[in-house]
Amino acid sequence: MKAEKLRGRVALVTGGARGIGRAISEGLVRKDVRVCLLDCDQQAGEATARELSTDHVGSTVQFIRCDLAAGDGFETVREFVARAHGHLDLLFNNAGLEIEKPFELTTLSEWDRIMAVNLRGPFLLTQALLPLFPADGGAIVNISSIHASRAFPGSVAYACSKAGLLALTRNLALELADRRIRVNAICPGYIDTRMWDEYLSHLTNPDEVAERTRALHPLGRRGVAEDIAAAAVYLASDAASFITGTDLIVDGGLTIRAHS
Ligand SMILES: NC(=O)c1ccc[n+]([C@@H]2O[C@H](COP(=O)([O-])OP(=O)(O)OC[C@H]3O[C@@H](n4cnc5c(N)ncnc54)[C@H](O)[C@@H]3O)[C@@H](O)[C@H]2O)c1
Repeated sequence: MKAEKLRGRVALVTGGARGIGRAISEGLVRKDVRVCLLDCDQQAGEATARELSTDHVGSTVQFIRCDLAAGDGFETVREFVARAHGHLDLLFNNAGLEIEKPFELTTLSEWDRIMAVNLRGPFLLTQALLPLFPADGGAIVNISSIHASRAFPGSVAYACSKAGLLALTRNLALELADRRIRVNAICPGYIDTRMWDEYLSHLTNPDEVAERTRALHPLGRRGVAEDIAAAAVYLASDAASFITGTDLIVDGGLTIRAHS
């Protein structure tokens, strides 16, 4: 079996301040990857970079602020990575935003914001960073969702953005194959992060919903950020060197049930 060969590589993780992005960053740091952690939340991003650097002596974790919704600032990110490391081997398009709204109540600005963060952001950032990938290739991992292929009430805009991210994944995988850049996606199910807490906070019966959701999982639990991080680190590593253009469902078996 091929070694992971991640040591010394350079990665950029969007939405790295917390949740799944933070867990991916930590998973990479544990493999001696140099990490640029991008987020729109400056305070949380700086704190996470500091904590990871302190917890893992000898690691290189840097924070760069960028709001993916803004539609600009991507050249600044490229210059930051180029100045710090000279190149980029691994890109994790993880940052995302979910707004739960019935279709008829979803406004144009909500639709545009979700698309800007979840789909246009990865498109523009990937385009800006591609010149930094070395001649012998690299890997891109996009964090989509089970919403990309399954319907849930109140999720039209989010689901469309995540389905678009899968299309971006497949098409980029084809276009970038001759540059040896592999592009894959992960589709998480229910993962205990702030995104999940915020969803529960809008409900009148959060405990009941949390328990009902847990029980839907054949593996008997909701996911944790580290479950997604482990899959992301694997897809970025040389152990996955023959995998490109695919999407990996990581949901504890949630979506294999015929009825729920
Ligand atoms: N938590 C889940 O159940 C779940 C399920 C499926 C998919 N996902 C996807 O996983 C990814 C990470 O989700 P999470 O649960 O860790 O969310 P989270 O809300 O805990 O963290 C998201 C991070 O992204 C950052 N971010 C948000 N908008 C940004 C922007 N415009 N520019 C830069 N950074 C921005 C936030 O500041 C935050 O640090 C998202 O793409 C989400 O859609 C999550």
